[in-house]
Amino acid sequence: MGLSADALGAPVFGSAGRDRSEGLDGGPKPRPFAWVPIRSLAPRHRGRILQHLLGLERGDRYLRFGYAATDEQIEKYVASLNFERDEVFGVFNRRLALIAVAHLAYDAPQQIVGRPAMAEFGVSVSGSARGRGLGARLFDRAVMHARNRRIDTLYIHALSENTAMLKIARRAGAKVERDGSESAAYLKLPRDTLATHLEQMLERQAAEVDYRIKVHAKRLESLLEGIAEVRAGIGARKRSVIE
Ligand SMILES: CC(C)(COP(=O)(O)OP(=O)(O)OC[C@H]1O[C@@H](n2cnc3c(N)ncnc32)[C@H](O)[C@@H]1OP(=O)(O)O)[C@@H](O)C(=O)NCCC(=O)NCCS
Repeated sequence: MGLSADALGAPVFGSAGRDRSEGLDGGPKPRPFAWVPIRSLAPRHRGRILQHLLGLERGDRYLRFGYAATDEQIEKYVASLNFERDEVFGVFNRRLALIAVAHLAYDAPQQIVGRPAMAEFGVSVSGSARGRGLGARLFDRAVMHARNRRIDTLYIHALSENTAMLKIARRAGAKVERDGSESAAYLKLPRDTLATHLEQMLERQAAEVDYRIKVHAKRLESLLEGIAEVRAGIGARKRSVIE
């Protein structure tokens, strides 16, 4: 199901989607198009990332991290995010809360000499925003970024019970290797093209515009709320003077 523009407080823009005719291993099924404003996150967003992750229930923390992470462990994870080495991106709602966050980690595996470059994908979507395509969109975005970084394989570690995550990976053409309660999915990536670089640039700019609109809308909302409160106060004073 496509994500409604209203849920994100965003207009649905024209096509900046991936060229699916190119296809990954196994050939992905095309998804109905709806543009989702996915924004690259920076160190200044740590607070909001933390808020998003702390909002995950125990079961979801287990699925996301492979263990039922405590608040302290999540705090440590967020504090340790390396925004220069890795890529972190997310989706903001109209109140500027993060409702989905993805982490594309470029660390350890690609440092091993003689081994093709690998990146690991991790993601979480807030309970209230699930099943509307955000997880899949973030995955698509990670694929594009990883391709543009000349990454050979995208790796996803998931619990075997994690139907939604494994579905996203399989749908993109990943090979899933199950080892009891845990599964590892490997998605071989095609090379980057001029189109993937242009797409990344356009997506970044469009998401930035969307974010700015939301910031202004939120300020305007606070201003209108302030005016309404002042009016209500004046009205109450007038009434008490009359009475
Ligand atoms: C996994 C997760 C990110 C999926 O996010 P989402 O936005 O709900 O996923 P989408 O809406 O893009 O759905 C992707 C696919 O999974 C399917 N799906 C979604 N939830 C499902 C569920 N509970 N059971 C079975 N399938 C499900 C969707 O129908 C869709 O399939 P389709 O492409 O054939 O239509 C989300 O459930 C989540 O945050 N879980 C907790 C953390 C986690 O598991 N992270 C992944 C490990 S790194």
